[in-house]
Amino acid sequence: MNDHDHQENTMKRIGIIGSGAIGTAIARLALAADYDVLIANSRGPESLSDLIDELGPNAQAGDVRAAADFGDIPVLAVPLTAYPDLPHDAFAGKIILSTGNYYPYREGRIAQLDSLESTTAEYEQALLPNTVIVKAFNNIVAHHIPNLADSAPRTALLIAGDDLEAKARVSTLVDALGFDTVDGGTLADSWRFEPESGAYTRIYAASTEGFAADYLADPGAPVPAGRLREILAASHRPDVAARQF
Ligand SMILES: NC(=O)c1ccc[n+]([C@@H]2O[C@H](COP(=O)([O-])OP(=O)(O)OC[C@H]3O[C@@H](n4cnc5c(N)ncnc54)[C@H](OP(=O)(O)O)[C@@H]3O)[C@@H](O)[C@H]2O)c1
Repeated sequence: MNDHDHQENTMKRIGIIGSGAIGTAIARLALAADYDVLIANSRGPESLSDLIDELGPNAQAGDVRAAADFGDIPVLAVPLTAYPDLPHDAFAGKIILSTGNYYPYREGRIAQLDSLESTTAEYEQALLPNTVIVKAFNNIVAHHIPNLADSAPRTALLIAGDDLEAKARVSTLVDALGFDTVDGGTLADSWRFEPESGAYTRIYAASTEGFAADYLADPGAPVPAGRLREILAASHRPDVAARQF
């Protein structure tokens, strides 16, 4: 296959690893934007038949390797605990859009993150060497995603990565999915939009109090790029070791 054929073949295709809240929300955006979508989870393609029926003919289920190979930029929407179990060779050389966050109740305590030795994104990059991690969609709750896609004014998401070209390509993808992006810097800088940083999920809430009381009932409200830059500039490094969730 020459480069042109490869490009044709991978255009408008996206592989998503993780069929939970965030993976499904991104799948729906991609289908609405005319992408073909292949979704994988831990239990195998058969477990996804109801979801695929619901998503329609442009969605298919596959294993993780198939998702890694479907399109140019696979989306990882799995807990951090899953990263070491992934078939690393299937992702080698790939740009990965990672949505992951560190929730100790789910992951257990990770000393390297508690000590601030690395950000979650740097930790992910170390778990998946030979890939290029770009962080996106990690600082917005799943149910706000469909509500704020292509909002007026357009909502922006934060992205971070060490490779400028990879970041530009992920920005183009996020734009096609319905959001502007604001550059949150490198993987080392990405604490700026980790949980409790001040640039995390509640910034997209329609009501801060309503979100705190019952976040699922909050419909979300647009955050344009200019406002997001201000929020990012005011964010602070969270005390990860004190995190209780
Ligand atoms: N939920 C949100 O609003 C939100 C927002 C932003 C970021 N995030 C972050 O995004 C990540 C995913 O969150 P989520 O809420 O979507 O989680 P979730 O609803 O629990 O779904 C996790 C998915 O990962 C799959 N998975 C787990 N281990 C796997 C493996 N080894 N190989 C393949 N698939 C595997 C699970 O497969 P099975 O279905 O087979 O169990 C499941 O489909 C987390 O790091 C989370 O912090 C979540």
